[in-house]
Amino acid sequence: MSNKLQFFKTFVKDKDVASVIPTSLRCVKKVCTNIDFSRDFTLVEYGPGNGVFTKYIVSNMSEGSRLILVEANEDFAAGLRESISDPRVTIHNILAGDVESVLDKEDVGNIDYVLSGIPFSFLKKDRKIAVLNATKSILKPDGLFLAYQTSGHLKKPVMEVFGNYETDFEPLNIPPYFIYKVYNHSNTAEAS
Ligand SMILES: C[S@@+](CC[C@H](N)C(=O)[O-])C[C@H]1O[C@@H](n2cnc3c(N)ncnc32)[C@H](O)[C@@H]1O
Repeated sequence: MSNKLQFFKTFVKDKDVASVIPTSLRCVKKVCTNIDFSRDFTLVEYGPGNGVFTKYIVSNMSEGSRLILVEANEDFAAGLRESISDPRVTIHNILAGDVESVLDKEDVGNIDYVLSGIPFSFLKKDRKIAVLNATKSILKPDGLFLAYQTSGHLKKPVMEVFGNYETDFEPLNIPPYFIYKVYNHSNTAEAS
């Protein structure tokens, strides 16, 4: 079965998949320009789906880097376990808000990047804030939260929790995405 068909079938069974096809490689590359692949890093990915970002990151990251996948959908998590056998990658079938429960103690507060594709617009305000707070607590100071979302709805909760954001837009994707870049510090309140 093609990746796109498998993705669509999972979307039909689970509304939280939120998109009918995987993100385009063009959009993946645009989001990932924010990642410094020349250094070792630890990146947590929320909502990898069938792994379009994951595979790009794995093939570009250094030997010393680590990728921690957090996927709520059981079928996607099982598919990722089958298709990725790389000691640098771990896969967890949990909700993004529970991320801290699967991290080693020393990783909490030391994550370089959190990359998120989960549909925040489906979450009630208090859940959105809870996921953003969980994200803030695992990121290192000056760590980066990157999110691709279908609208600008995340600006307000992100400002509430992180106090800063920049956005970019990728129109040539189904759906078009706003790309959020948010630093884990609060001294650069910035909005674009
Ligand atoms: C829009 S899809 C993005 C999939 C993939 N990253 C891509 O770009 O093609 C959203 C993904 O987030 C997952 N998801 C939704 N809510 C989640 C949550 N609360 N925690 C973890 N994953 C979640 C869905 O199962 C799905 O894989």
